[in-house]
Amino acid sequence: MVSLNSHKKNLYRFWKGEILWNKPMSQYSTLKVGGPAEAVITATDIDELTGLIKWLKENEISWWIIGRGSNILVPDKGLPGVTIMLEGKFTGIEKLFDLQDQAENHVFIRVGGGCSLAKAVNYCTANSLSGLEFAVGIPGSLGGAVVMNAGAWGYEIGDLLDSVIIMNGKGEVHEVQRDGLDLTYRGWGMKRDTILLYACLKLTINTQEEIKAACSRFQELRKKNQPVNELSAGSFFKNPPEHSAGRLIDEAGLKGYSIGGAKISEKHANFIINTGNASAAEILELMLLVQDKVYERFGIKLEPEVHILGSGI
Ligand code: EPU
Repeated sequence: MVSLNSHKKNLYRFWKGEILWNKPMSQYSTLKVGGPAEAVITATDIDELTGLIKWLKENEISWWIIGRGSNILVPDKGLPGVTIMLEGKFTGIEKLFDLQDQAENHVFIRVGGGCSLAKAVNYCTANSLSGLEFAVGIPGSLGGAVVMNAGAWGYEIGDLLDSVIIMNGKGEVHEVQRDGLDLTYRGWGMKRDTILLYACLKLTINTQEEIKAACSRFQELRKKNQPVNELSAGSFFKNPPEHSAGRLIDEAGLKGYSIGGAKISEKHANFIINTGNASAAEILELMLLVQDKVYERFGIKLEPEVHILGSGI
C-alpha cells in the first residue's frame, strides 16, 4: 500500500466531491489526539463509495473508515492515504414495513452506518421502539457500534441485528443475514476492510414512557460509573475472560497515574483520558505501562478495545 503523494492530482480528477487535505484527526476523535490525515473524503451513497473503494484498490492506496471517532486512537504522525467518513444517505433511518412482524410486536428499521447512535436512540424513542436504550450516551456511529458489537449493561447491538448490508475491500456490496455474522464480545467476525453500509435492526414496540425510563436509568449508570465529561475513547481495554479490565488496573494501583496529558481516570480505571493536551504517544505509552503492570501483577495480557489506526488496510 502506498501513500497519496504521487496520486494527489489523480484523486482530484477522480473525486468530484470535497477533499480535505492534511486534516488534523484530533478534530475527529473523542480523545482529541492524532496527527493529520493525508486526505479526508465523505461518501454519501453506495455508488460514490463503490467508485472510491475500487479506485483506492486499483491505485494501492491505504484507506481508513471512521465513524464518530469515539473508539479510535490516531498516532501523532497521522494517517497516510484516504480517511473515509459516511454521510448523506448513510445517516438515514427508515422503517421496513415489509418486514414488520405485527404478531410478534416487532418492527424492523434500516439504519445507515454513518448514523449517530444518539440519532438512532432518539428515533427509537420517538417511534416507541425498544431495544436500543442501552446505547444512550455512547458517542459512536451505528457502523462503529456494529463493527465493535458495542454493548453496555448486559446488552449488545448484535442482539438486535437482523441483517447487514456491507461493502468488501473490492467495492462489492452484499447482504448478510444475522447467522452469517460471527458476533462475539466486541467483534462481528468480518474482515478488517469490510464497511458496514446499513444495518437492519429488529426492535420491539413499547410505550415511550418505558423507553424513556430505561434511557434515563442507563444514562444515570453511565454518569455514576464512567468519566462522561472527560475526553476519552470509552473503555480502553477489553475485559479479559472472567475478569474486569477496570478492576485489574485499579488493583494494580494505577488510578490517577499519568504520563504527560494522558491519565488513568480516577472514576473508572479502564478509561484513559486526555486531560487537555495529551499526545497520542503519551496515551500509547500509558497503554503499554498499564499492560506491563497488569501482566506483572496478575499474569493477564490486556488487549486494547480501542482501534489503534496507522498501518495499511
Ligand atoms: N471496577 C473497579 N475499579 C474501576 C472500575 C471498575 O474495581 O476503576 C470494577 C467495578 O466495581 C465492577 C467491575 O469492575 O465490579 C466492572 O466495571 P463496570 O461495571 O464499570 O463495567 P466494565 O466491565 O468496566 C463494561 C463495558 C462498558 C460498558 C459497561 C456497562 C467493556 C470493556 N466495557 O465496562 O463499555 O459501558 O460495561 O455495562 O466491556 C466501552 O466499551 O467503551 C464501554 C464503556
